[in-house]
Amino acid sequence: MCGIVGHFGPQNSVEIVLEGLKRLEYRGYDSAGVSFIDEKENLNVFKKSGKLQNLKDHLGEVNFTARSCIGHTRWATHGEVNDENSHPHSNNEIALVHNGIIENATYLRKQLQDQGFKFQSETDSEVFLGLLAVSRKKGLSFKETIIESFVQIEGNSAFVILDSQTSDIFAFKRGAPLVAGINEISSEVLVSSDPYALAGMVNKIYFPEDNVICHLSASNKNLLNFYEMDGTTSTRYLSKMLAIDAAVSEKGDFEHFMLKEIHEQPELIRSLTQYYFDGEGLESLKRISKIETSKIHISACGTAFYAGLLIRDFFERFNRINCTVELASEFRYRNPIIDSKDLGLFISQSGETADTLAAHTLCKNEGIKTISIVNTEGSTLYREATDNLLIRAGIEVGVASTKAFTQQVLTGRLFSAALEGVLNNEEEKKKLVNKYALLAERVDELLLKIDEIKEVAEKIYNYNGFFFTGRGAYYPVALEGALKLKEIAYVHAEGYAAGELKHGPIALIDHRMVNVAIIGPELFEKTISNISEIKTRKGIIVTIGEENNSELENISDYYIQLNLKGLDELRPTYINIVNQLLSYYIAKLKGTDIDKPRNLAKSVTVE
Ligand code: AGP
Repeated sequence: MCGIVGHFGPQNSVEIVLEGLKRLEYRGYDSAGVSFIDEKENLNVFKKSGKLQNLKDHLGEVNFTARSCIGHTRWATHGEVNDENSHPHSNNEIALVHNGIIENATYLRKQLQDQGFKFQSETDSEVFLGLLAVSRKKGLSFKETIIESFVQIEGNSAFVILDSQTSDIFAFKRGAPLVAGINEISSEVLVSSDPYALAGMVNKIYFPEDNVICHLSASNKNLLNFYEMDGTTSTRYLSKMLAIDAAVSEKGDFEHFMLKEIHEQPELIRSLTQYYFDGEGLESLKRISKIETSKIHISACGTAFYAGLLIRDFFERFNRINCTVELASEFRYRNPIIDSKDLGLFISQSGETADTLAAHTLCKNEGIKTISIVNTEGSTLYREATDNLLIRAGIEVGVASTKAFTQQVLTGRLFSAALEGVLNNEEEKKKLVNKYALLAERVDELLLKIDEIKEVAEKIYNYNGFFFTGRGAYYPVALEGALKLKEIAYVHAEGYAAGELKHGPIALIDHRMVNVAIIGPELFEKTISNISEIKTRKGIIVTIGEENNSELENISDYYIQLNLKGLDELRPTYINIVNQLLSYYIAKLKGTDIDKPRNLAKSVTVE
């Protein structure tokens, strides 16, 4: 989805904004643009459809320098993909970039046209430029102009605006992501729709609430000021100090961010129990352990939804709490039965997924408590939930979610353990910490035998289609495995409950189909029978299961052997990492754009 960046400071703003936009490429986009005030105080706008490189070529060899610049990567909604519809939009006095949708754009466009405003694009975003231009003519200050215009638009939006008279930048939002940051040493100030654009560049980060104006200006003592929509100073933002670590935004020795992120998992698993049992997370876990509820509604999208299916198993198995898991896009439009003592649980890496936020709002409107399992601190979900459990995965750049899934499931298990009273039981706590440590160790071992998985990928990548199957807690892993493969390798893959295959999909099985069969010790014999049904029909069998098992040896064309001992309820999470690697290597053989797969956006901020 669209990405926005703004920079103000002594360094060359154009370069910094282009670097920010490069980092936002992973979110998906189809055009890019920048606007800045050059040394002769002229407002420049450069925009191009296609990749960011097109924009860079368009900027050419000219070494533009500027102290303030705004930029945008556009994911088209209103108006086709072309240069005119790309952002920034400008009238030579003001330039703006926009993320979101102006829902009453058609009505406002007509009104503005009647008032003589000449549109240059088909976008809803340019409507806001029209509103600013009309207000400005009344002689209002820039801040007043923004305030008067912002109240007129409907829908969720974030804007970053450059004023050519002062070179000041203004940023504000309603129901859309926005983050600001400052580097107190070099006096750089940045804003963006995504904290990743700021990583390694700032040492203090701010998450403004809705309707707070961030003002980036040399005239501000602190360079960055916050205002309410009535013009008074605002304190409605979260702030956080950060270490400046440029490495977080780099791939290091890895060919792709996805591979890097898969490899980060052992360390992240290790630090999760440390954070929750001995660190800052303890307080949130303690608060959450006091929740009394007899029903939990889990709602999420995509990979986070599959994590929810595994978390439901924890609540049922360890807490005997009634729990439902639903796709947020469905839950939000049903009429779910919600009792005042129920709890809403929302899982999201970004904390900005439109459907998940809407499902959350539905629960809030029903007056129930809500908890988020979320990666992005300060995101909309994080701010709006009654309480939060951070998954501490760090920035996830690969569009295909890997480490976030693992951390979501593991955080969900800690939630269920807290409800079980584990925080007050040293022995149980130790057992769980040891189990997480064992999981981290096993993932380390797995990463050492990556070549075995690569070899299987080489054997199967050219087959026609893939069925990932599993039973019980391995069924969500099958669903997630199939999602991973289709999103990055562009091959047809389905996740199925192994026992359900014969109720229809088995008709598709022949010698050109691969069955990736996920099999743990639970329901072992029954799953073997399901695999036999596929083998009989000449399907290619890849099993992922306990090592040194003769039955698995006999039934498999390719057998990925794992040491599952001692992992108990964490086994599915472990096996899922094999699927992540298998998908990665199949995609690599297919030559796809692994970190930025076609048609996908990292954070889906429209429904
Ligand atoms: C995962 O690989 C996907 N790209 C996608 O399904 C993702 O999990 C989904 O869009 C939800 O995102 P969220 O966790 O940021 O809410």
